[in-house]
Amino acid sequence: MLLLGAGDLRIDLPRLAAELTEALRAGAEPGQRVRAAVTPDVTAMVLMPGLSPGIPAYTVKVHAKNPARSPAITGVICLHDLSGDLLAIIDSPRLTAVRTGLGGALGAHLLARPEARTVTVIGAGVQGRAQLEALTALRPVESVCVRDVDPVAERDFLAWAAGLGVPAGPEGEIVLMATWSRVPVLHEVPPGTHVTSLGADEPGKAELGADLLASALVVVDDPALAHVAAGTTIGAVLRGEHPGRTSAEEVTVYSPAGLPMQDLVIAWHVYRNALS
Ligand SMILES: NC(=O)c1ccc[n+]([C@@H]2O[C@H](COP(=O)([O-])OP(=O)(O)OC[C@H]3O[C@@H](n4cnc5c(N)ncnc54)[C@H](O)[C@@H]3O)[C@@H](O)[C@H]2O)c1
Repeated sequence: MLLLGAGDLRIDLPRLAAELTEALRAGAEPGQRVRAAVTPDVTAMVLMPGLSPGIPAYTVKVHAKNPARSPAITGVICLHDLSGDLLAIIDSPRLTAVRTGLGGALGAHLLARPEARTVTVIGAGVQGRAQLEALTALRPVESVCVRDVDPVAERDFLAWAAGLGVPAGPEGEIVLMATWSRVPVLHEVPPGTHVTSLGADEPGKAELGADLLASALVVVDDPALAHVAAGTTIGAVLRGEHPGRTSAEEVTVYSPAGLPMQDLVIAWHVYRNALS
């Protein structure tokens, strides 16, 4: 059994992007998200079973969410073979961020106008960074505009993004959101904009206004877990069962709740890398 700490995680982002795309295309069994309040500010959550056709293993992730600390999401992923034997226990914050950021960026890359090169990030934390970094692995990003309730977070984000090779710029054609908001923070966008919204992943959380959602093509990962009304799923778009964006003026939204299967894909990726 491997014990993989934060320093042991080797991730090849382009290869992981291909693996996650393939898993999303294949579709996943409905996953469970079991959530319990620990204190008024902290929740404990279990995501299971992470299963995907073609990977001979499953995951159980146990994590805590505490918006008041950084990182806000901490926990472990247990990787088992399909007979139940424990293969690895893996520190989860980086895996959660990379799989979430990559999932959000894959949705953006799939649904945004092909020529869109400018980005706005709303929520300049761990998942906001992970989304921008993943998007730069999928398409060129010329500039980023950032919005956060915390001006220090905005400043730190822009310095970090400059180090990634993405300078500050105007409002973007692709909006990547990852806040803790419980009220909508984005109500209107220009025609043709794509928005990925990661923060509406639990009951009571919301990032997008009702009018924006009603006028957009809304794509989710799992309609049973979604907290927004969905037009289709990312799996259906990847399989060609739904066309996705149909015009340059259409507004598209990707609002994933986060699938247990994403934890499996990245856990299997780092496990295989650790063995090689
Ligand atoms: N859908 C998924 O798959 C998935 C997976 C993991 C996390 N998440 C969600 O992503 C969100 C962000 O997580 P994180 O780990 O990046 O947290 P974080 O604390 O690292 O970053 C969140 C940032 O958002 C800012 N913020 C909070 N409320 C805001 C608001 N109303 N307007 C603008 N900025 C605001 C904070 O100041 C902070 O900088 C959470 O809601 C989390 O539950 C979703």
